[in-house]
Amino acid sequence: MDDTVRLGMFGAWRGSAYLREIASRDRDEIRIVAVCDKQADKLERAQGLEDARLFPDFDSFLEYGRSVGMNAVFLANYFHQHAPFAIRAMEAGMDVVSECTAAATLKECVELVRCVERTGRKYMLAENYPFSTRNMEMKRIVEGGTLGSLLYAEGEYNHSGTLEDLRELTPFRYHWRAWMPRTYYVTHAMGPLMYLTGSMPKYVSARAAHSALLEEIRDFRPNDDGMARMFCEMDNGMTASFTGCTAQASDYSRYRLVGDRGSVELGYADHADEVRLFYEEYTKPAGVTERDVYLKPDLDYWGEAAKEALNHGHGGGDYWIVQNLVDYFARGKVPFFDVYKGVAMSATAILGWRSCLNHGENFRIPDFSREEERRLVESDDLTPFPDENGAGATLPPSTRYGKY
Ligand SMILES: NC(=O)c1ccc[n+]([C@@H]2O[C@H](COP(=O)([O-])OP(=O)(O)OC[C@H]3O[C@@H](n4cnc5c(N)ncnc54)[C@H](O)[C@@H]3O)[C@@H](O)[C@H]2O)c1
Repeated sequence: MDDTVRLGMFGAWRGSAYLREIASRDRDEIRIVAVCDKQADKLERAQGLEDARLFPDFDSFLEYGRSVGMNAVFLANYFHQHAPFAIRAMEAGMDVVSECTAAATLKECVELVRCVERTGRKYMLAENYPFSTRNMEMKRIVEGGTLGSLLYAEGEYNHSGTLEDLRELTPFRYHWRAWMPRTYYVTHAMGPLMYLTGSMPKYVSARAAHSALLEEIRDFRPNDDGMARMFCEMDNGMTASFTGCTAQASDYSRYRLVGDRGSVELGYADHADEVRLFYEEYTKPAGVTERDVYLKPDLDYWGEAAKEALNHGHGGGDYWIVQNLVDYFARGKVPFFDVYKGVAMSATAILGWRSCLNHGENFRIPDFSREEERRLVESDDLTPFPDENGAGATLPPSTRYGKY
């Protein structure tokens, strides 16, 4: 049977990085058959792809896809509009790989998991930060079992940039980046912690901090909190604290995992391509001579592909997303970030924001694999995101505007 992934790319800005990534792969394994973007300058980035037809609207893209056997769609459209398009693609018989976030409201979280179960289509989240080579080295160490009982994990995702960068990334007044509260872009800080420890969030409370610098550019970015930090109880008994996206004066992202026998974290500065491992004298495993060491990633542990991944985007993460989607869609190997983990992260961000708006109130994160828990939130469509005319937002984008 022909198991080639015939992929349609929806959104050609971030999507264009994956177009290049996929063009470097074996065409019998995965190929792009169609690309859709409503902005001509973005669609141009897909020019010259062998066999791919370009479309400015989703309907004609999907219809054409159906006619040529497109069997999967990569969603790289606006951050807060993934779930409705994921549902349309799955209803059309296609598998879905979605950029973050999986869903923008609790109602959408419910609709998305119900659609996956109803249609039997495959769905994965393209959360790439867990698969950077150094995070995978941390995973190798956790799997070695020498850290003892895991006590806490910390994740921090920083995306600093110039004012020009911020303007370019926020191309119009009601663009999602201008209205997104700080908790919402959670997957790059939280995803690695879930992947490293195999855990799921159960409860969340959160706080946000105002930025005077961002207030100065409020004319085009009304979301003027500088950061938010969420605190979670995880289902493996540990605690986890992490940011959403923090945009201030810090230039790297950090992950740290602490057990009762040892800890591991990303190195920085002179150790920026290494991870740091620490044991107490009495907790050192057999054969370990030093308590405090920096390690280069052990590429052999993850196989030949780990060496190739080093040449790809986001520290190797983009390589593994494409590999995971081929392994899943063509070979049935279920990836870590399935629909349940995807919506668990979205729900953490959504409820984390309500917590910020209410002085750290604690929220239980629904288990979306259980229909009785879905029913409790199936009508909850509160959102901070306005439509293209500026209407429809039901939550403030910044803690300065009031409480939930
Ligand atoms: N994982 C990562 O490392 C990473 C990096 C950058 C962006 N992203 C994610 O990628 C997604 C896209 O972000 P971006 O940076 O490309 O910016 P963006 O959201 O502004 O771009 C989205 C693109 O999709 C197109 N689009 C949106 N709705 C459409 C529609 N209905 N019909 C046709 N075209 C449509 C837009 O024209 C635009 O070119 C977001 O979810 C973002 O979070 C992820």
